[in-house]
Amino acid sequence: MQRTSFLRCYNSLRYAPKQQLQQTIVRYSSSKTSQPPPLAFAFDIDGVLLRGPDVLPAAKRALNILEGNNPFRQKIPFILLTNGGGVGERERCEKLSAQLGLPISTSQYCQAHTILKKLSPQYADSPVLVLGGQYDTVRNVAKEYGYQKVYTTLDVLAWNPSVWPFHRLSEREKESTKTVDFSKTPISAIFVYHDPRNWALDIQVACDVILSGGIVGGPHVPLAQQKEPVKLVFCNPDLLWRSDFPRSRFGQGAFKTAFQAVFKELTGSEYPYVQFGKPTEATYTFAKELLLNRVAEIYGENCPVPQIYMVGDNPESDIAGANAAKWPSILVNTGVYDPAQGRPTHIPTQHAEDVEEAVKWAIEQELTAKRRTKSA
Ligand code: G3P
Ligand code: MG
Repeated sequence: MQRTSFLRCYNSLRYAPKQQLQQTIVRYSSSKTSQPPPLAFAFDIDGVLLRGPDVLPAAKRALNILEGNNPFRQKIPFILLTNGGGVGERERCEKLSAQLGLPISTSQYCQAHTILKKLSPQYADSPVLVLGGQYDTVRNVAKEYGYQKVYTTLDVLAWNPSVWPFHRLSEREKESTKTVDFSKTPISAIFVYHDPRNWALDIQVACDVILSGGIVGGPHVPLAQQKEPVKLVFCNPDLLWRSDFPRSRFGQGAFKTAFQAVFKELTGSEYPYVQFGKPTEATYTFAKELLLNRVAEIYGENCPVPQIYMVGDNPESDIAGANAAKWPSILVNTGVYDPAQGRPTHIPTQHAEDVEEAVKWAIEQELTAKRRTKSA
């Protein structure tokens, strides 16, 4: 299909009256019998679809194309792959559906800590500490994942206010706490789910737990002598992320750097940890599985694996991860990456002004490839 006729088809479809469009899509699109289109997408959220509470204008146009307003006249499968989190997947999908104006289901949504579902059998019955988010929201998320003994640093402060004398619990914080005797509750792991709200309290308690082999306020046990050192897991390595403030903001990665700086000052070395979230291989493998299940959900089992395109605003996480996963990566200018700053730290397959341009470029790639195969 020549570029001009492609754009004419686009424009004719784009401005197609909604009712005709819906009939077209229904007739052509997502039946379990029809072949899926040759591509699928993984979209980052912050800096690509949203900036803080604001939906980026190109986001709705891009998603409209995927819903059938495209030369394939089919639903193009996609997932949302974010290093954000802090609330349950269902709750976030409801909010995103309202913001983006189309249903987003949990089967197409992967946030920083979704992957922790896989570890829950290992920790089902062990006391764990969760960091990040507001009040006890991440405790509830961890419980949804199957973790049963889940505590927060606010619980620790409620148990003994002298753990961190510089913060007095608010009434709202007190309401979110559980009564626990931490002198008898050996913490086996610390999971940093989302961006901590009180870095100082969280760094203090995390160091207390680790240095005392799990018992807050217990005698310090040299790390080399600890039989089962406390496991430390971070879910999002982003130093920076893009919200609605004109400059990028510190993310969970900045908290990790601060924690490790204090820990190293105390012990002489950083504490070993497990990292999840983009760009880690574990998260891209998890996301690929989710996306292929989504393709099967729309087009049935055993359909051909589509080419996955990653659209992101952060070279360190979105582009680095996609490049390592051998997915074509598209870097947009609407978030962390600012073209005025020159070459990104990780080179994408393609640059695009925004997510709509990114989607159009990827579709063009597949049409060109299809044309080549046909003429071969
Ligand atoms: O806290 C979220 C932030 O680090 C980035 O989110 O959607 O750009 O991966 P996202
Ligand atoms: Mg982003």
